[in-house]
Amino acid sequence: MPGIDETARAIVADGKGILAADETVSTITKRLTARAIESTADSRRAYREMLFSTPDLTAFIGGVILQDETIRQDGSTGIPLIELLARRGIIPGIKVDAGVHPLAGAPGEFVAEGLDGLRDRLEEYHELGARFAKWRAVFVIRDGLPTAKCIHANAHALARYAALCQEQGLVPIVEPEVLMEGAHALERCEDVTGRVLHAVFNELFDAQVSLEGMLLKPNMVTAGNGFARQASVEEVAEATLRVLTRHVPPAVPGVVFLSGGQDHVLATEHLNAINMLDGPKPWKLSFSYGRALQDEALEVWRGQRERVPAAQQVFHHRAWCDSAAALGRYSG
Ligand code: 13P
Repeated sequence: MPGIDETARAIVADGKGILAADETVSTITKRLTARAIESTADSRRAYREMLFSTPDLTAFIGGVILQDETIRQDGSTGIPLIELLARRGIIPGIKVDAGVHPLAGAPGEFVAEGLDGLRDRLEEYHELGARFAKWRAVFVIRDGLPTAKCIHANAHALARYAALCQEQGLVPIVEPEVLMEGAHALERCEDVTGRVLHAVFNELFDAQVSLEGMLLKPNMVTAGNGFARQASVEEVAEATLRVLTRHVPPAVPGVVFLSGGQDHVLATEHLNAINMLDGPKPWKLSFSYGRALQDEALEVWRGQRERVPAAQQVFHHRAWCDSAAALGRYSG
């Protein structure tokens, strides 16, 4: 069985990225019902199976993040969905945080929970076939936020999670997400993202997490979505690479960005522009998109079996675009 370093590198091998399909039941229910699709265990299974069985995906998608319901579900042919992925050479992963909850004594801020019992859950997920995991912390930008307390609490939890994953033979994806919501300028996002990454790597060091056996899943550096002047694609790319260069050690094999509510084409363009920049880029710079990879396919699918091939076609196209962007070869 490959070790965690090898698995981490395989997930982001040339042109490959991650499909984040780990929406909780309540989040995917919102996305389905917004398109008049009833959310049942079976419709959620059918939706994920449509994505996972898209032909010719393996060159673009190195890993898929599942959540607890999906990792236990069988596809329509009786083959477990996780097995469907593994047979195609796509590495299955699992979301293991228990969501974000208000952080005590820090109004307006959140901490990701889920450390209690995590060792046992990781052991079971490994048994079920997962080879990597994901934990998402969020940081809000407002006047005076994020506080040092919130940054520290979340960085510490991310490091404890990452150490437990490695102990159980799983690659941790460390996801500190500075949210796009807000009326702040790009410079503010750059400053906050830098402070967050600094704290996260400090905690990872103290927890003796092996950087070679993990992946980082950060936000890109953008202006807040309520800010009057949105930055250009080049400005986003430059600020994002600058903050990574300053705060992410070269030993980390891959940085896989979240899309965070960006338009899907813009998410592709930003990733491509980052990869096109000159300067040292010691990590693979790729994607771990949820909405930006899925939204078009979900819109086309609409819960109807006869629309599966058309939905798979648009999903394949978007994965192809993001894969090209991960190589700096996307041309619109
Ligand atoms: P988005 O790309 O939709 O932000 O989702 C990625 C993810 O996994 C968030 O945790």
